[in-house]
Amino acid sequence: MSKAATAISQNTRYLESQAARESNARSYPRRIPIAIAEAEGIYVKDMDGKNYIDCLAGAGTLALGHNHPVVLEAIRELLDQKRPLHTLDLTTPVKEQFVEELFASLPPEFARQAKIQFCGPTGGDAVEAAIKLVKTATGRRSIFSFQGGYHGSTHATMSLSGTLGKKSGCRG
Ligand SMILES: Cc1ncc(COP(=O)(O)O)c(C=O)c1O
Repeated sequence: MSKAATAISQNTRYLESQAARESNARSYPRRIPIAIAEAEGIYVKDMDGKNYIDCLAGAGTLALGHNHPVVLEAIRELLDQKRPLHTLDLTTPVKEQFVEELFASLPPEFARQAKIQFCGPTGGDAVEAAIKLVKTATGRRSIFSFQGGYHGSTHATMSLSGTLGKKSGCRG
């Protein structure tokens, strides 16, 4: 057999590894059959060197594109200052600065009464936080959602979502 015929694309190698090792209980899709090697702004390059425009560029919660220079500079500064990278529920100067800047960006009347709850970084985490907030505030237990809506990939947000395909494997 020739060398060309035996060569396996790098994309294929990563995709086969992903298919073999990742659980069927995952609810994120695998519709785009590439492995990404590099990314900058709206561009990504796959493992075989092919370039694409990433129309999501970080999607809803991190729609900054890939490796945005301002984000990279903030990460470098954080590392150079030896700031803690994980503190669980303990507060830090970085967290305090984030809260200050967020509240300063709100309408003052709203900011005076506003509270903040930290959750994970995804849209699904935000919806989870909203579910906890309304249950805490109202003492009620039921939530309704619109047919066909999509709210995330965590268990609670999937139960609110109308898109059945993603949750077909774990419906009771
Ligand atoms: C309306 C809505 N809610 C929640 C989510 C979940 O966000 P994430 O995928 O960041 O968890 C999405 C994501 O597309 C969304 O469009």
